Amino acid sequence: MDTDELTQSVWDISEDEFPDDSPLGEQAEFLLRYAILAPSSHNSQPWRFAVRDDAIEISYDETRWLEVADQNKRELFISIGCALENLCIAAEHFDIGYEITYHTDKDDDLVSTVTLDSDSEPSFSRPPELFNELTERYTSHQLFDDQALPRRTREQFHRVLEEDDVTLYLIYEPEQKRSIGELQADADEAQMDDPAYRKELGYWVGIGALGSSWLMARIGQAFVSHFDFGEREGRKNSKLIEHAPVIALLATQGDTPAVRVKTGQVFERLALLASVEDVAVHPMSQILERPEMRTKLATRAGTGEELPQHLFRLGYVEEERTHTPRWPLEVVSSTER
Ligand SMILES: Cc1cc2nc3c(=O)[nH]c(=O)nc-3n(C[C@H](O)[C@H](O)[C@H](O)COP(=O)(O)O)c2cc1C
Repeated sequence: MDTDELTQSVWDISEDEFPDDSPLGEQAEFLLRYAILAPSSHNSQPWRFAVRDDAIEISYDETRWLEVADQNKRELFISIGCALENLCIAAEHFDIGYEITYHTDKDDDLVSTVTLDSDSEPSFSRPPELFNELTERYTSHQLFDDQALPRRTREQFHRVLEEDDVTLYLIYEPEQKRSIGELQADADEAQMDDPAYRKELGYWVGIGALGSSWLMARIGQAFVSHFDFGEREGRKNSKLIEHAPVIALLATQGDTPAVRVKTGQVFERLALLASVEDVAVHPMSQILERPEMRTKLATRAGTGEELPQHLFRLGYVEEERTHTPRWPLEVVSSTER
């Protein structure tokens, strides 16, 4: 993996450069410039794209899988789903129809094929205003203000869910948030206690994926890799949960790679809608990374038979938008003509 090529320049895209009169294959490559802006766990960007005529194949890149934190590849498939959703939103914006096929029942790294068709209409239309947020969205790690989300915003969140197999739970009850915050503290301690977890996190901090300058990233890597600061991290993160006006949880009936990809699509759609509404978003994965805690989360959040897939805070914060870097498209995509 070439770690030197992470760059911020991917965020400067002008839609005027869309190649209107070019073949679909070239247009597909332009759409992928939006796909790579998707969020991913530790900003690992575990996607690979291959453009073959009018079809885009999306595979996962095993070298960017978080083997320790994400043992059953839940976060990997959710991250791929986020990139897929960005691709759909960009295609709709430029009036290109598409069909998505999920291949995740097969035992290889091919996740999905998106077949573009200038003449077809997508079966479900995303709100058009999401497109502008593709280059604006970012993850916030701050303590959120104690300000409730208006009912209109909450209703909008529920309305953009198209997938029948993914359910959105919005949790406001202080007691319920407190008990999830407690679980978060336990999960942080357990994860940070594990030297392999710290080493993996340190690697991603060290290559600058999480956005600091090179020197700060190196210092960060040394700190994260060598010190067990789980208790401090746990205290901080449980406070972040308890003080957020809303904790959101996406849950699914099954636990297949396909429902995880769809969870990623739903999450990204919600994150972009949140960005339209100036609502900050912060995924928190440590509870879900520990199987025994994932079960406790299901009980505390009241998901019944459904399995928790992705947990994130929603709220308001005064903050400058800052972007984490990405590998440029040439690194993660290939074209066959
Ligand atoms: C599946 C998934 C899990 C994530 N888990 C966490 C997490 O546990 N803690 C956190 O601070 N951010 C988490 N994030 C946010 C990523 O760190 C963030 O998307 C990435 O660094 C890219 O930055 P950006 O979202 O600002 O573009 C997660 C994102 C995804 C898609």
